[in-house]
Amino acid sequence: MSAVTQGQPKLYESQKLARWYFIVAIALFGAQLLFGLIAAYQQINPRFLLDVAPFMTNRTLHVNAMVVWLLVGMVGGVYWFLPKETGREVVGITLAKIVWWVLVAGVAVLVGIYLFVQYGPGKMTTLWFIMEGREYLEAPRWVDIAIVVWVAVFLFNVIATVLASRRITGILTVLIFDLVALGALYTAGMHYQLNLTMDQFLWWWVVHLWVEATWEVLVGVLMAWSLMYLLGVSRRLVETWLFIEVALVFGTGILGLGHHYFWIGTPEYWLGLGGFFSSLEPLPLVAMVVHSVYDAGAHRLGTVNKPAMFWLIAQAFGNFIGAGVWGFMQTLPQINMFSHGTQLAAAHGHLAFFGAYVATVLLLVYIAFQNLRVPVQVPLDSRLWKWAAALLILGIVGISAAFTLSGFTQTLIERAVGGSTWAAFIQGYTHPWYANTLGWRYFFGWVMLTGYVLLVIDLASIGKKRTA
Ligand code: HEM
Ligand code: HEM
Ligand SMILES: [Fe+2]
Repeated sequence: MSAVTQGQPKLYESQKLARWYFIVAIALFGAQLLFGLIAAYQQINPRFLLDVAPFMTNRTLHVNAMVVWLLVGMVGGVYWFLPKETGREVVGITLAKIVWWVLVAGVAVLVGIYLFVQYGPGKMTTLWFIMEGREYLEAPRWVDIAIVVWVAVFLFNVIATVLASRRITGILTVLIFDLVALGALYTAGMHYQLNLTMDQFLWWWVVHLWVEATWEVLVGVLMAWSLMYLLGVSRRLVETWLFIEVALVFGTGILGLGHHYFWIGTPEYWLGLGGFFSSLEPLPLVAMVVHSVYDAGAHRLGTVNKPAMFWLIAQAFGNFIGAGVWGFMQTLPQINMFSHGTQLAAAHGHLAFFGAYVATVLLLVYIAFQNLRVPVQVPLDSRLWKWAAALLILGIVGISAAFTLSGFTQTLIERAVGGSTWAAFIQGYTHPWYANTLGWRYFFGWVMLTGYVLLVIDLASIGKKRTA
């Protein structure tokens, strides 16, 4: 009998905290989509809301909301599974709750600052209190510090709980090392440098090493727990795979960082190093697909949580296609020389973040919500989750296809044919293959938003009437 067929378990405090993590994550997902839609519309009609919130403000909110909600969702997943893994309440849970609500208040203040203050003079006070101005890490220094404190408390929760339970598993070992790296790497973004090359050099430590190393490993941990929970896969099997995947992720991803060092003024050897190691980065993603499909097949998809199972498989393929294929496509220096900084990067960014991390968080949310409201033996299924999933996926595929086409046009017309002149830049941006895609990504944004509304309705109605 698999673990899922046991009776309704009593919730730990840590799992009650996880519920708040998931609620806030899903709310911020909605905010991300709204700001993305406004940004997409402003690319068609730049005058729209120009004096209130220009494109760059909405874009900043769009990507910052994304980073925050995805990380919050994944940390929520750990708070959900940790007491199950260790068989006890999480140590320091009161501290965790306090830090969490401080963080939520901080994020609310930050959104206010982004929306109503927006910019400041080029002084240290701006950097400390308004924004730092580097994509993804725009958050001012006080928020940086809050984020590091949050990760530190989280790490403390994990280590103290493991020590108190006197039992350490392979999954927990990986988790602890990964959280140390995740917290420490964030501080690399706090070394503000006057030299632009040095500044970019360190900035990428956070941006690349987070999403292509520490976040991927965190996903590996959460996926291992989810596979055990959903399918009753044996611990020995998931841990063996986890170790292989972690070795491959770090083995390729750390020097794969070089694919961002090609054109920022670093020594030439980064062309070879970055090209070589980053082109191996899809390997662990292939391993993850094989792992989940093998487990799902061996257990004949026998699960009591259909939507979670769906997002688990979607994650495996989405991660591989969005990060592996769309990343690989532009990672060799010979190609990147022409495609760098075009909207091919945005196409890859959308597909990869969705496939790797949105799918992971939705998987975790469905696992948690079933346990919150429905006796565990009752299967979770509905028509609504399928519509929500279909529209969300159709939306992101449509948006990414539109970005791919516009990026291709830029690469071809502005770079390869036009030789990167100013005239070629204008030609690229006004070409119909580029101009028409602006409408398409706006349209598919609405498709995605519809999927999101259905997702929220589905989540809210779990356990209300339709789960019998
Ligand atoms: C889940 C994992 C990944 C995520 C979330 C992700 C996300 C992103 C994002 C958002 C950017 C744009 C950065 C910017 O604003 O400049 C980017 C750039 C890039 N990514 Fe990824 N990525 C992932 C994995 C990969 C992998 C595995 C590869 C290679 C096989 C790759 C190759 C690249 C390259 C070459 C660029 C730079 C494109 C350019 O020069 O314009 N990425 N990635
Ligand atoms: C309503 C749906 C969405 C719309 C309309 C939308 C639209 C946009 C637009 C217009 C940009 C700015 C592109 C530029 O600078 O030219 C952008 C950037 C970005 N969006 Fe979205 N987006 C949506 C959903 C998402 C989702 C679900 C994710 C990931 C989970 C995402 C991740 C990103 C990332 C990473 C960037 C920065 C890309 C880069 O720097 O290359 N977006 N989005
Ligand atoms: Fe990268």
